[in-house]
Amino acid sequence: MSKRLRKVVFPVAGLGTRFLPATKVVAKEMLPVVDKPLIQYAVDEAVDAGADTLVFVTNRYKHAIADYFDKAYELESKLAQSGKNDLLAMVQGTLPRHVRCVFVTQPEALGLGHAVLCAKPVVGDEPFGVVLPDDLIWNGKGPGALRQMAELAADEHAGVIAVEEVPREQTHKYGIVDATPVSHRAAKINLVVEKPRPELAPSNLAIVGRYVLPGRIFELLENTKPGAGGEIQLTDAIEALLAEQSVLAYRFEGTRFDCGNKLGLVKATLAMALEDPQLAEATRGFMREVAC
Ligand code: G1P
Repeated sequence: MSKRLRKVVFPVAGLGTRFLPATKVVAKEMLPVVDKPLIQYAVDEAVDAGADTLVFVTNRYKHAIADYFDKAYELESKLAQSGKNDLLAMVQGTLPRHVRCVFVTQPEALGLGHAVLCAKPVVGDEPFGVVLPDDLIWNGKGPGALRQMAELAADEHAGVIAVEEVPREQTHKYGIVDATPVSHRAAKINLVVEKPRPELAPSNLAIVGRYVLPGRIFELLENTKPGAGGEIQLTDAIEALLAEQSVLAYRFEGTRFDCGNKLGLVKATLAMALEDPQLAEATRGFMREVAC
């Protein structure tokens, strides 16, 4: 079985209310972390995992993501004319040539499971990835989280879901798994629950925004009734999948920044600035200065 993951779905129809007023006009996924929008980090990770088809599940008001990955004729010809080749390469490098984008509209905000189901006509019946761009996962020069997961999924013929321990009092923000360890980083999932209260949570192992799933999940999603928050939950379809095949929880190598909230975005920005050779020293100096 190929370890490549050809298709990756990005649910990007959310309104980004936590970042209002910026998100009145800027899509949440276009918020920059240093000089790249969040969606670029997500796409880079998908391409690193082998993807050649990126499926963006968007809403009818959000055009910025399509524009961002489109060719910018005027800008590119101006940069070419003025010999700014490094900038030109940057503008042209948002997407490798062999990768194509498909945009699907989610007509109503009915939940993450519903958003993923909207990608069914493009994905069909093959294993695919799901990346939630809010979760920026950085693994330096090592393989991205999705690539690590795609390899495990192919080796084990299983679905794979990224997990991370969270403080008990935060279980109500996540899908929570109960799992039996099978190796250093992987555990076989026995149960998944969407956003349980701390006292009802089976553990503090939370699902974060990366999934490798079989095409079968679409049929299960079609039969999934609204769950937590009245939404069609991907977690509930995964719970149904567990009755048919094994799904692994995977503690990825890398650091996750929850850019769905303000502090997470600030942390990601500082961390990425420290990774940038031109910014690292000045950023470190500034952090020392303000820490006193
Ligand atoms: C979604 C999922 C949840 C998961 C989380 C990770 O929730 O439903 O299971 O833990 O993403 O970010 P959301 O953050 O969209 O409410």
